[in-house]
Amino acid sequence: MPRLKTFLGGGNMAKAMLEGLAKKETLAGYLVIEKDEQKRKTLETLGVETRPEWQNKTEAVFCILAVKPQDAKTLLPTLSLPPDSILCSLAAGLSVATIEALLPKKATVMRAMPNLAAAVGHAVTGLFAPLKTPANVKEEVESLFAAFGQAFWLADEKMLHAVTAMTGSGPGYLFYVMDIMAQTAKKMGFTEEANAMIHELFLGAALMAKNGNFSELATAVSSKGGTTEAALSFLEEKGLPTLLENAIFRAYERSQALDSLS
Ligand SMILES: NC(=O)c1ccc[n+]([C@@H]2O[C@H](COP(=O)([O-])OP(=O)(O)OC[C@H]3O[C@@H](n4cnc5c(N)ncnc54)[C@H](OP(=O)(O)O)[C@@H]3O)[C@@H](O)[C@H]2O)c1
Repeated sequence: MPRLKTFLGGGNMAKAMLEGLAKKETLAGYLVIEKDEQKRKTLETLGVETRPEWQNKTEAVFCILAVKPQDAKTLLPTLSLPPDSILCSLAAGLSVATIEALLPKKATVMRAMPNLAAAVGHAVTGLFAPLKTPANVKEEVESLFAAFGQAFWLADEKMLHAVTAMTGSGPGYLFYVMDIMAQTAKKMGFTEEANAMIHELFLGAALMAKNGNFSELATAVSSKGGTTEAALSFLEEKGLPTLLENAIFRAYERSQALDSLS
C-alpha cells in the first residue's frame, strides 16, 4: 500500500511544492498538517486534505518536514512514526543525525532542499540520503521532487549547505535584484510597465543562458565603450562580485549554524 504523503507545515515551501504537484497529478494521496486556518483553506483549494495537528498513525507514512528549523526542533520529539515510515526534511541546516536524535522512534530520515520555483515546475532540489537508505525509498523520494523540477543526489550531506545558499535562497536574491531594476526603471520614467519589462528581461536572459557560458555571454553583450560595458565596469570597480559572493557565503554559514539540537 502506498504511504500517505504528509506535509508537516503548510507554509510557503509546502504550498509551492503542492502547486507544482497539482499541475501534474491529483493531490488525493496527500495530507497537510498546518496550524493556521487561513493557510489550510488556501491549500484546500488545490484539492489537498488538511488538518490542524498531527495525529499518530498506525500505517507507514511519507512525511515531508516543512516547518522552520526552530519549529522542527519542537515538533520532531512529538512524532511517533509507524515502522517503515519515511521522513524527508526540507529544514535548512538540520542534519540527518540531528533529526534522528530528536525523533522518539526510528524512521528512514532523508533531506531535500528545493526552492520556491517548485510552484512553476522549475525547482532545483538537492537530495541526500544516508548510505543505509533502501533504493526503493530513494526512488519514491526522487519521484516526488522530480515532479516539479530538477532533482539531484548529493553524495556528501554537507553540500546541502551549498544548495541552500545557492538555489534554496536563490529566488530571494533574484527577486531583490528584479525589484531594484524595476525601481530604477520607474526613476527613468516608466510606470506600471516597469515590472513586466523586468520580468521579460529575466525570462529572456535565463532562456538565452541555458547551456551557455555565463561569462562569455556577459563579454559578448559588452561592446567596447558601449552602455553595457559602462554599467558592468562600474559594478566591478565597486566590488559587486566580492559582495555577492560574500552574501551567498553568509547564507551558507547561516545554514551551518542552524544544525544544533537546541
Ligand atoms: N521558503 C523557502 O524558500 C524554502 C526553500 C527551501 C527549504 N525551505 C525550508 O522549508 C521549511 C519551511 O519553510 P517555509 O518558508 O515554508 O516556512 P513557513 O512559511 O513559516 O511555513 C511553515 C508553516 O508551518 C507551520 N507550523 C509550524 N509548526 C507547526 C506544527 N507543529 N504543526 C503544524 N504546522 C506548523 C507554520 O505556522 P506558524 O507560522 O503559525 O508558525 C507555518 O505556517 C523550512 O525548514 C525551510 O528551511 C524553505
